[in-house]
Amino acid sequence: MYFTKFPHSANFTFARASTDPNVLLASDKRLNYSLDAYEGEIYHLRVASDAWGENASLEPLRLPKKAKGKRLKFSPSLGLQLTDDQGQPILSSCDDETFGVSGNASLFQLSVPPSARFFGMGQKNFGRVEVSGLRTKFWTTDVWSDFPASQWVDGPTDPPYFATPYLVARLNGVYVGFLMHNPYPTWISTPGIDESRVFVEWQRTAAELVLGNEGGEPNLWIIYGPTLKDVTTKLQKLVGTTPLPPLWSLGYHQSRWGYGGHQDLLDLDKKFTQHGIPCDGLWLDLDYMRGFRIFETSKEMFPKGVKATADILAKSGRRIVPIVDPGVKRELGYRVYDDGLKENAFCQNAEGAPFVGMVWPGETVFPDFSLEKARDWWAGYIKELREEGFGATWLDMNDPSTGPVDPQGMLFQNGKLPHAAHHNDYALGMQMATRQGFLDAHPDERPFILSRSGYTGSSNFSAIWTGDNLSNRFYLKTSIPTSLGMSISGLPFNGPDLGGFGGDATDDLMVDWMKAGFLFPFLRNHSTKGSSHQEPWAFKAGTLAVMRRFIRLRYKLLPYLYNLFIDQEEQGEPIMRPLFYHFEDAKLDTIDDQFLIGPSILQAPHLDKDANREVMLPGKVHWYDAATGEWVKPGMHKVKKERSSTPLFIPDGAVIPMRAGTPSDNKTDLRQVIFHVFASPFWRGETEYRYRSDDGISFGYQRGERSELVVRVKRTASGLQIETEQTTNGYGATHYRFVIHGEATKVSLNGKPSKQSPVNTRLAGEMLTTFELA
Ligand code: NOJ
Repeated sequence: MYFTKFPHSANFTFARASTDPNVLLASDKRLNYSLDAYEGEIYHLRVASDAWGENASLEPLRLPKKAKGKRLKFSPSLGLQLTDDQGQPILSSCDDETFGVSGNASLFQLSVPPSARFFGMGQKNFGRVEVSGLRTKFWTTDVWSDFPASQWVDGPTDPPYFATPYLVARLNGVYVGFLMHNPYPTWISTPGIDESRVFVEWQRTAAELVLGNEGGEPNLWIIYGPTLKDVTTKLQKLVGTTPLPPLWSLGYHQSRWGYGGHQDLLDLDKKFTQHGIPCDGLWLDLDYMRGFRIFETSKEMFPKGVKATADILAKSGRRIVPIVDPGVKRELGYRVYDDGLKENAFCQNAEGAPFVGMVWPGETVFPDFSLEKARDWWAGYIKELREEGFGATWLDMNDPSTGPVDPQGMLFQNGKLPHAAHHNDYALGMQMATRQGFLDAHPDERPFILSRSGYTGSSNFSAIWTGDNLSNRFYLKTSIPTSLGMSISGLPFNGPDLGGFGGDATDDLMVDWMKAGFLFPFLRNHSTKGSSHQEPWAFKAGTLAVMRRFIRLRYKLLPYLYNLFIDQEEQGEPIMRPLFYHFEDAKLDTIDDQFLIGPSILQAPHLDKDANREVMLPGKVHWYDAATGEWVKPGMHKVKKERSSTPLFIPDGAVIPMRAGTPSDNKTDLRQVIFHVFASPFWRGETEYRYRSDDGISFGYQRGERSELVVRVKRTASGLQIETEQTTNGYGATHYRFVIHGEATKVSLNGKPSKQSPVNTRLAGEMLTTFELA
């Protein structure tokens, strides 16, 4: 399997119409095709044949109701056309070369306007959000094992750990999504290459959009926007939104390959308390196991058992998160191996025996997560792991990594399906089983799972980190477009190893990374054995102070972040967003070093050492500079690099719920909130913000145990009018205060004039003078 080579359309036979309107002919093949339309202008184009079998995806899509769709036409003579509101075609077939087959491979070729621009593709590290002019494969890899170090040390490696064959196109100003729902290897080629990258003619991508399947049943979903927000939320609902995670999982996490067990965890706990740095998760890598045997905790590491340690950590509200790999050591007498053999739970090789790869424990066998019974078997062990005292889990090496052994020999479904059928969604099966195990252990506790690999649909089960990176500026910079790409491709809960996994993070790099990454949806500092330590106190005092400040700022903003996750679960809105998610301007396409967290926070971190930068503030309203407290006009601005602050801007009229003061612990009570209102003297609008609170851990919110307070802010001739309405009370009354950023003007709260007293607030930089309502 070549990652970087692609089938050429000249080797395909293109299908033609037959006398049967539901049948296409290509060479000697008869192919059944169907086009279905669903509510929300979502279309499903399916081509079926016995050779491909049924769609192999482990996790089905959440289908909306069927509807009459008029926008997409795909006629028996293979004329495909998608039109905009004016009836103009924005996507059409390529004469009679629209759908082609070559053996088991198939492709769609679609003609797009020359101005088309492309985004998405899930986890890619090309270093840019716009992915026009690229050829790329979707095949999950273990990057450090499958690519030479010379490539991954500071350059893009494609394909990476995670596969999401999804693309968003902007076609004549309208956004359209293309989801290839087929776990077999797929590839996409987008037109629009930047000429400077063409050195040899074959580097030029085709003028058409090519969506190819190397095997499996082609299932193409076309999602009409018209806006990026429409496409993204429709996609997210189709593939499954992320169930509301526990509040603690949105905190700061400390990890390192090398933390062993009880003593290390207690030391970490003590240090976080001593330094006044909030932290929710303490992570254990391979060392906590007895000789790399999954589901066997080393007695040396936990002499009194995990529960005893977990109980101590619970006092400071921290949880232990252990790593779990899929590979099971091949050793008779080891409970998990013996039991898996008995249950026939492992993937087979061509000879009908368990397939053997080489991972940490040496010879290793792999659960066949495509089998329901193997998933049930696995869930049983995860249940035990939770009951043992571990608070969550971290699923690694599930690409699946087989070391130097060719994974193609690993077959699925008791040897009946080739490896390619479930390579890409192997990790998805593991996530499904793992979530089930947690729910079996504690049915009323929201599970938290982090996974390295995965596939479309993983959003239902797991957060994703972007795999092994290095402590260098390449990975710091690419972390932004990579996370943005995932966020608009149905994978909202994601983030990199903050500070870099491999290599030694310098103080300068760590400071910049912390300031760039502290609001990413998932925040974990992780480093490898042999590299220098990355705990905040491992750096110089000044660096420690900056790290502490921004970790605390994350906790201050947790009420806001948590509410974004509620919007994700309910509406499919991403947490992290490219600027063009909210602002229409083609110039924003190429901004890879700025991003939005929800609608109300724009970050433009300094990513280069010792360099000032330009910041683009989009739209029409003024922006509040959260480092200086000044109001800034939209447009381009120079921002000086300062060690202890970061460029963070808030649009005029925003309401952001925060924790009081400067949190030094992780004890967030969502019922206690300060609403920060950002209203400049120029602002003339009206804002409504819905603040929701619940217990942050159980499913009680699904049973009505949630409160909602609606805040309405309006500027009138007589000043700023603020009104609140407690619309639901299932989790008790919301205790709130208001802090105004801007200037002291007349303010009324719920119809009564309100006194204001100056208070100091620190956000992204200097101490700011703000006004608290009495
Ligand atoms: C590879 C993972 O990507 C990394 O995070 C982990 O530390 C190592 N495996 C060791 O388990």
